[in-house]
Amino acid sequence: MATLPLASATRAAAFCHRSGLASSSSVPSARRYAHDLVIKRKTGLPIQRAGPIGGGRSAVSGHVATVFGCTGFLGRYLVDKLGQKGTQVIVPYRDEDEKRHLKPLGDLGQIVPLEWDLKNDDQIRECLRHSDVVYNLTGRNYETKNFTFNDVHATGAARIAAIAADAGVSRFIHVSHLNAREDSPSKFLRSKAEGEKLVKQAFDGATIVRPGSLYGHEDRFLNQMARWPITWHVNYGRTKLRPTHSIDLARALELMMDAEVTSTGATFSLGGPKTYTITELLTLVESLTFEKTLRPGLNVPHWALRLAASITDKAAWWGMLSADEVDRRMVDDLPDEAGTKSWADLGMTPDKIEDVAIVYLRRYRSHLRFEQPVETSGTPLRKNGRYHVVD
Ligand SMILES: NC(=O)c1ccc[n+]([C@@H]2O[C@H](COP(=O)([O-])OP(=O)(O)OC[C@H]3O[C@@H](n4cnc5c(N)ncnc54)[C@H](OP(=O)(O)O)[C@@H]3O)[C@@H](O)[C@H]2O)c1
Repeated sequence: MATLPLASATRAAAFCHRSGLASSSSVPSARRYAHDLVIKRKTGLPIQRAGPIGGGRSAVSGHVATVFGCTGFLGRYLVDKLGQKGTQVIVPYRDEDEKRHLKPLGDLGQIVPLEWDLKNDDQIRECLRHSDVVYNLTGRNYETKNFTFNDVHATGAARIAAIAADAGVSRFIHVSHLNAREDSPSKFLRSKAEGEKLVKQAFDGATIVRPGSLYGHEDRFLNQMARWPITWHVNYGRTKLRPTHSIDLARALELMMDAEVTSTGATFSLGGPKTYTITELLTLVESLTFEKTLRPGLNVPHWALRLAASITDKAAWWGMLSADEVDRRMVDDLPDEAGTKSWADLGMTPDKIEDVAIVYLRRYRSHLRFEQPVETSGTPLRKNGRYHVVD
């Protein structure tokens, strides 16, 4: 923040005192209401802010946003952040029950559910025709008989982007994956790379976001590690990951709505700040839950697990471990690609998983040790190569 020389500061304070205004240094805290008018450069449309500056009840950000894929894990945190700031959020849903928890995340009437189908252009247009920002979070870890990876991540994403461009939406923010590459061994990751390319073609200036594996209350990451003791390993537990905190990602997506850095389109690599092997992560989970997660187990060869996964995945009608997921478990998280932006460009410092994992893992402790504190200020210490908590 810029500081005034002492003499000018005193003069300014005296002027403010005489004129009954708050002094310049106290202006930000004294200004509790925002009445701003911003004209969007791309569309020329006005965005009018009003109400409490920090958001909350009766705040109006002036934006209308559509969040495709809002009914999933990340979606709820993004809708929550947008709703708090007074953004009207259109929440497209497929299943009536999947959108109920989103309704209380904004003021009355600010969360608007609309039914949609990824293959129905009219419904997509209906969902975004009043919006100035569109987020695309749709994604699936496995293929179904109705939707392949390409249908959801590539052609589906491109369809939404093209309709958004046609409707005059000013920002399109598309969530991809940190490891999305055209030469990836995983079909899922190849379809994500294809999606990035098609979205950029369909929407000039689209923002691409590449997060690492997400963790949070409803994740398929820490929960999976804590729920079952691991009796078998893939890749000897050596696959390296850069986990991203879901709350950080939701905050970053929220900031992208207004950030100047996203006005002309950019790619953000939003992996976590540290890299861990799977074994290190399992050790962390074990230290925080006091439950054994790491059993000395067999390392299952890639081909054998892949074969077993492709058989069981076809037999069950719900998503189990798919062959492609087995492939992804062998892929190390990539470093940020040169030329992409990161957390610092949004003024953010992302969380390290060891600092926040206890919030999500405490529920896996037995009642006897439920409230036992984590040593130091939340950072488990490493001792003899293992994370160590107070006994
Ligand atoms: N979770 C991670 O670790 C992670 C890591 C990197 C990137 N990402 C990406 O981040 C995004 C959000 O992840 P997430 O964990 O929140 O995913 P999620 O919990 O699986 O939610 C996916 C969302 O996409 C929707 N969707 C899936 N297939 C669809 C289809 N055929 N038609 C319409 N909607 C469909 C789902 O709607 P329904 O509820 O109707 O099924 C749901 O709203 C995804 O693109 C994902 O690939 C996730």
